[in-house]
Amino acid sequence: MYLNNNWQELSDILFCSLFLFYFCILLNNLIMYKKIILPILFLVDPEKIHDIIFFSIKILFKIPLVNLIVRKIYTIDDSRLEKTLFGIKFKNPVGLAAGFDKNAELYKELSSFGFGFIEIGTVTPKPQSGNPKKRLFRLVEDSGIINRMGFNNVGLDEVIKNLKNNKTVLIGGNIGKNKITPNSLAIDDYIASFNLLFNHVDYFVVNVSSPNTPNLRDLQEKEPLTKLINSLLLINRAKESPKPVLLKIAPDLNDNQLMDIISIVKDTGLDGIIATNTTINRQNLKSDNKKELGGLSGKPLNSRSTEVIKFISKNSNKTIPIIGVGGIHSVEDALEKFDAGADLIQIYTGFIYEGPNLIRSINKALLNRL
Ligand code: FNR
Repeated sequence: MYLNNNWQELSDILFCSLFLFYFCILLNNLIMYKKIILPILFLVDPEKIHDIIFFSIKILFKIPLVNLIVRKIYTIDDSRLEKTLFGIKFKNPVGLAAGFDKNAELYKELSSFGFGFIEIGTVTPKPQSGNPKKRLFRLVEDSGIINRMGFNNVGLDEVIKNLKNNKTVLIGGNIGKNKITPNSLAIDDYIASFNLLFNHVDYFVVNVSSPNTPNLRDLQEKEPLTKLINSLLLINRAKESPKPVLLKIAPDLNDNQLMDIISIVKDTGLDGIIATNTTINRQNLKSDNKKELGGLSGKPLNSRSTEVIKFISKNSNKTIPIIGVGGIHSVEDALEKFDAGADLIQIYTGFIYEGPNLIRSINKALLNRL
């Protein structure tokens, strides 16, 4: 009986989300997404609805023409949006940030919503379940999210299976270490992921900035970071065609630490920086659940992430390629990131709060700015 009720509940939710999703695609209306779709989706636990939406999109895209229709509505194919950075030609400069498609299960379908590139991961060598639930919280009044997922992922072997034969979209491989691996052995985890993922991604991101793996961010300090980056770049340079390697940094680094990062990038020859990951700062929040532990993303992160981008751009004389991410919820937010010095941008929380139309609007605005 209990099981039956649960199944009934699940199938109701599934039906509703499929229906709404389909409707949303057809109407492609931002007001409708924010006023009708979002409040319904927000009735369900955030992690549960993430899984349901993943499942729904997977099923929907099996229906003939759905992929074509979604692509037609959301994707802008225009060569003027193309951008070449660290030797890669991006179809457009708006990407999906890491953490949304951790296991590379949905990147093909997600690419139809207009993204120029998709970053999968963070992937760790071995599968791990992450922190205990509940670990994902909406801060609706602040248009933010707090997560303490803790690198839950299916592990390298499964992710590689999911990435095989991808010719659809440019993929960034965001790599991290397993929770049980001590920092003294972290390099081994990064090297294992780097080697095994090498033939399946277009660029790499070294993630040492998540607040949800104990002591991970200690690896951002000058000495261990230089050692880690040098080890990876040594392997990379020995390959026939090396891949771009980027570093993803936290927004909570101070100016001295940011200057250290700039000199590490220059000294090692790293290809670029992703700024920024989520923050542990909790200033100026209105939501009741603001004290939850974890990393904060979305609108409250916007200005700090832009500040970090500006700092790196200015203090490196614009010599370091930057992917800007953090709190992009509107066209204006996106343009601000580019103006601050970002070459490409990524979105996560804004994709949830504003809907898929945001990607198209940003690309359209970029075209209008030409
Ligand atoms: C993330 N983010 C993230 N980043 C990363 O490098 N590896 C990861 O596994 C994750 N996981 C993750 C889960 C969840 C639920 C969220 C909300 C975020 C951080 C993400 O890629 C991005 O850097 C920040 O969220 C800031 O961008 P937005 O969300 O403000 O657009």
